[in-house]
Amino acid sequence: MDSFVKISNLSKTFPTDDGNGLEALDDINLTLAENEFVCMIGPSGAGKSTLIRILADVLQPTSGSVTFAGNQDPTRAIVFQSSNLLPWMDVLHNIALPLKIQGESETAANRRAEEWIERVGLSEFKDEWPKTLSGGMKQRVAIARALIQQPQLLLLDEPFGALDALTRDQMAIELLKTWDLQHPTVLMITHSITEAALLADRVVVFSKRPGHITHELKIPFERPRRAALRDEYSFIQIVKELRGMIMD
Ligand SMILES: Nc1ncnc2c1ncn2[C@@H]1O[C@H](COP(=O)(O)OP(=O)(O)OP(=O)(O)O)[C@@H](O)[C@H]1O
Ligand SMILES: [Mg+2]
Repeated sequence: MDSFVKISNLSKTFPTDDGNGLEALDDINLTLAENEFVCMIGPSGAGKSTLIRILADVLQPTSGSVTFAGNQDPTRAIVFQSSNLLPWMDVLHNIALPLKIQGESETAANRRAEEWIERVGLSEFKDEWPKTLSGGMKQRVAIARALIQQPQLLLLDEPFGALDALTRDQMAIELLKTWDLQHPTVLMITHSITEAALLADRVVVFSKRPGHITHELKIPFERPRRAALRDEYSFIQIVKELRGMIMD
């Protein structure tokens, strides 16, 4: 697999009032292959969201670099823990918005939004306002709004963090299904080891702040992956191995 994103010797220090600075990331080296799904796990405050924001190009590193294959500037979409939907737009228009911003016609954008609404199982709710949706439904809208852009790089910052355990499990399966349709390169933060093992091709483990990568594990299961994988012995062994790395 070709390398798609290369993060080299990347560090980030935020300025502080006392002048010492707050070191959030310390010498991160990570390469994502094209179409690879990588999950990041690590303690709170380890700098994971900071890394996602640097990759989204909304924050600059203090030192080090992020380079993309062929020096391109890939299309990126980001999904946060809270869905960040526009409260004054219904589901359909929230999902269609990025296409309209990109200059697609109203009709074409709405037609593609309808397709995505069907894929994420929200056809009955396309005219609803975000405030009437459950947390899981809002996150499905946020994911559809990200995937409709067909981003080359999809950045997911604890997208299911605010959901109850059952909905969260269902969402992970739905994400697997939608990812199978498109295969963008993904970097996803999660605090769930099972979720990481189910979704990712590779899991990277962060230390506490200043964050650096302490472990990496390739997840060997073939795709497409199904929910039942979680009950298999080999899966439980991988989860155990990951737990050991996090406890280190
Ligand atoms: N804009 C900022 N200015 C100053 N400090 C910041 C800023 N953004 C993040 N930090 C600090 O950087 C450190 C890393 O924060 P970050 O949000 O990246 O952690 P995280 O690994 O995503 O944690 P969590 O798992 O809790 O979401 C924290 O100590 C945080 O307070
Ligand atoms: Mg975070």
